[in-house]
Amino acid sequence: MQRVLLHTATAAAPFYVPGLVAALEDAGWKVAVLESAAFPKAAIAAAGLKCASTKEKCDVHLYAPWDKAPVAESDALVAAVDGVFPGSLRPTCRLSLGRQGAVTIASYEQILEALEARRTVQDFAGKTVLITLGPTIEDFDPARYISNRSTGRMGVALARMAARRGAKVLAIHGPLSVSMPDVDNIECIPVRSAKNMGDAVLANISRADCAILCAAVADFSPCDYSEEKIKKGSRETLMLRMKRNIDILATIGSLPTRPFLVGFAAESTDVLKNANEKMRRKNCDMLCANDITAAGCGFASETNRLHVFLRDGGNREIPLASKNDVASQVLDLIREKMS
Ligand code: CTP
Repeated sequence: MQRVLLHTATAAAPFYVPGLVAALEDAGWKVAVLESAAFPKAAIAAAGLKCASTKEKCDVHLYAPWDKAPVAESDALVAAVDGVFPGSLRPTCRLSLGRQGAVTIASYEQILEALEARRTVQDFAGKTVLITLGPTIEDFDPARYISNRSTGRMGVALARMAARRGAKVLAIHGPLSVSMPDVDNIECIPVRSAKNMGDAVLANISRADCAILCAAVADFSPCDYSEEKIKKGSRETLMLRMKRNIDILATIGSLPTRPFLVGFAAESTDVLKNANEKMRRKNCDMLCANDITAAGCGFASETNRLHVFLRDGGNREIPLASKNDVASQVLDLIREKMS
């Protein structure tokens, strides 16, 4: 499924459509635009876009009704357009750019995710996937904290790809440097500290069929929290006493009943040995190890490469690829092993 017929009757079309077409084409969709009174042939051509012919066939028909169109009229037009384009499917997505004066504009990302879901096998439909992601923040006074370099990028890719495959995603996350797709089947639960994250995971774990814990959880947090900003005064050094935090993955691994459990391991030395040992110690079904010092695999990197250990003794390499591709391959393995 690759071809999109875009038909917008709204007055906002000339402003909205070029950016939408660019976003869809970047993701590999072919887009043709059907002329309307609001966006005539000449304007479509002037925007450098392909104008749909009346013989156009498409896989998905995206439709935005004219402004203030009553719902019934919009639906009638959709049916008529389907009749004109016998090769096209019933519209599977509609842009809503204002019905009866109430303006609701779907973002490019929402539209793209809806389209991607339609060309993706829904093999996680009916499953709930809990994902932890991002860093945790350990405060020690109102101005200062200890954290780490995690951006949450790998976890966002896992959430995005699981949602595309039909999962209900529970994303329990520390502060993220990248945005989470704004789609209905991702429920975000923002947290701050390791303790908050542990509490949120324990409160929600019974809802999950699978838990993928890829957050960079702080192993230690300051023993004391100062209600006032700590003054440097005349001291030359500052000692911060730290206490061990809950290990969320190991805690879930030790539950008598638990979902299919996937851990991550960020390693900088002896990656394979440390990761294998970590999988057994934390009792996971699968552990994805990455060497955070390898080229293209660091915290803020767009790409990743994983070595995946399986509880049954096997292991697989996921070669260097975009984090979305790596996430898809992790989900393939989870699907295979869960069933
Ligand atoms: N993890 C966790 N809770 C913690 C620490 C880690 O749930 N307090 C999880 C991470 O989300 C990841 C896995 O445990 O899935 C491994 O995390 P990592 O930081 O690689 O290992 P640590 O257990 O912290 O061990 P070390 O830092 O000693 O390598």
